[in-house]
Amino acid sequence: MTNELYAVVGNPISHSKSPRIHSLFASETGEPVEYTAIQAPLDNFAGAVKQFFDRGGKGLNVTVPFKEEAWQLADRRTERAENAGAANTLYLDEDGRLTADNTDGCGIVRDLVSNHGVALKAARILVLGAGGAVRGVLGPILAEHPASITIANRTVAKADALVDLFTPVAGETALSACGFEQPSEPYDLIINGTSASLQGDLPPLSPKVIAKKTVVYDMMYSLQTTTFNQWALEQGAQIVHDGLGMLVEQAAESFRIWRGISPATRPVIEELRND
Ligand code: ATR
Repeated sequence: MTNELYAVVGNPISHSKSPRIHSLFASETGEPVEYTAIQAPLDNFAGAVKQFFDRGGKGLNVTVPFKEEAWQLADRRTERAENAGAANTLYLDEDGRLTADNTDGCGIVRDLVSNHGVALKAARILVLGAGGAVRGVLGPILAEHPASITIANRTVAKADALVDLFTPVAGETALSACGFEQPSEPYDLIINGTSASLQGDLPPLSPKVIAKKTVVYDMMYSLQTTTFNQWALEQGAQIVHDGLGMLVEQAAESFRIWRGISPATRPVIEELRND
């Protein structure tokens, strides 16, 4: 059978783990998938997408810095892409319309709930950051019915804007916004969605937000303990996870959308962890 073509598009792209993850899924499932990486010019993402689908490509993952542009470019969006304001998965529907989905939120929820056994229902959650990464995951987390989500951000106005945006889908969950210094009670779950560590920074949080039972989840992924998780451990956290599982789970959900098959993720997470 001829392989069908998929790719991840970003800029830069050489560091991307998506080709490796999808190749492992293809071997595991026996699906005829060929998956490559495309570096799109910063000023011509739309041209790269058009060229890919004109050549018969079946599906694209989209990464930094094009997720918002992918969302804008699409002819139609799934509800979760609509809420996320960004797309990480593109494909043509049966009518040939460019369709945008976002599997990042599904990825973090599956990693937390299925891989790490974290209960989100009725949980008190502190989310750090209010950029694209956080917006991308709030909808699926809210769908698990946590008791509350406090969004803390350096620029409080951006956290306020996310509260306004997600209040209509928050149901019984109490949504609130604040600065980093304000939270001073222990949370069940703390999710770091800031990019502070890329500048060697840490959000200036009170150590009081961490109790022994607090689950700390850094959406960043690193072969060593991430900067944020290292800080959390020093404050007494006993359960810390990084974003590797989320990365694999969001890829698995894209694979399911494209191929109709959900690959097993645990062997792939283990394989990447051992790289
Ligand atoms: P991403 O797509 O990774 O979410 P983004 O939309 O630029 O990227 O958002 C980055 C997030 O990390 C924001 O919440 C940002 O805070 P501001 O909204 O105040 O800019 C946060 N962030 C980035 N650098 C930070 C730092 N040095 N300290 C604390 N927060 C930081």
